[in-house]
Amino acid sequence: MAIRNFNEETLTAEVLRRIEDTSNPRLKQVMTSLIKHLHSFVREVRPNPDEWMTGIRFLTDTGHWSDDKRQEFILMSDTLGVSMLVDFLNYQAQAGMTESTVQGPFHRRDAPEYPLGANVAKDPPDGEPCVVRGTIRNADGKPVAGAALDIWETGEHGYDTQKGDGNAMDLRGIFRTDAEGKFWFRCVKPVAYSVPCDGPVGKMLMATGRHPMRPAHLHFMITAPGHDCLVTHIFVKGDKYLDSDAVFGVKESLVVDFKKNAAGEWEASYDFVLKPSKQARKAA
Ligand code: BEZ
Ligand code: FE
Repeated sequence: MAIRNFNEETLTAEVLRRIEDTSNPRLKQVMTSLIKHLHSFVREVRPNPDEWMTGIRFLTDTGHWSDDKRQEFILMSDTLGVSMLVDFLNYQAQAGMTESTVQGPFHRRDAPEYPLGANVAKDPPDGEPCVVRGTIRNADGKPVAGAALDIWETGEHGYDTQKGDGNAMDLRGIFRTDAEGKFWFRCVKPVAYSVPCDGPVGKMLMATGRHPMRPAHLHFMITAPGHDCLVTHIFVKGDKYLDSDAVFGVKESLVVDFKKNAAGEWEASYDFVLKPSKQARKAA
């Protein structure tokens, strides 16, 4: 039977019918949901052709702005709260375990490994000197020795990759906890900064009356055998953007008091509790 003359409703049903033979069940589920929600969105918004082209142009520009240093689609996902939603649905720290938050686009896989106590800030440092210390424990409260902490942060002039000086490494590095699960390193006191807003996502933020600022934070990616990788930040208590983070990443349990020590440096302590991996939970 020929199927023609679709209307608003039967068109959706026909598009769904055409993907019925998708052999990958997860792809079928994802595509079915995408088509249903996209059609509902269009029925609700009723864009005229110019508006639809504006949307197409926005997505096209977002692609054109993306390369190996700049990922405008991730920034869109972050600023629309989708990255945090994906994080909530996936990491799910149980009570007592350190919460995760958004990774953001500035992690580099090739950060240098340093001995405990080293300074990740190049000389002269792009900010005020700061010491960060703490312990990494497992869910039973036992210290985790040899855990890798990959840390990165912005200085007062942005992340190293944004500075255009040949991408020299600065304000990032990898440390390993000692036999007692302890770590300590030197860095600069994190400062609040703007997410990149010279592209289409910046235009979207401005057009919707939003600021692009993130509260001061220090990123951590912590890996240890038998545990899920923990991607998180610590945030600086008192920062004026804690309640309006442009990417919705703040969790109260991650806000830390940075205090001046006797030597006049900033100092912060934070203890992390890692989540056991699925295999480790099964084996227990
Ligand atoms: C960041 O924290 O580095 C970041 C996170 C999301 C978007 C932009 C930057
Ligand atoms: Fe950041």
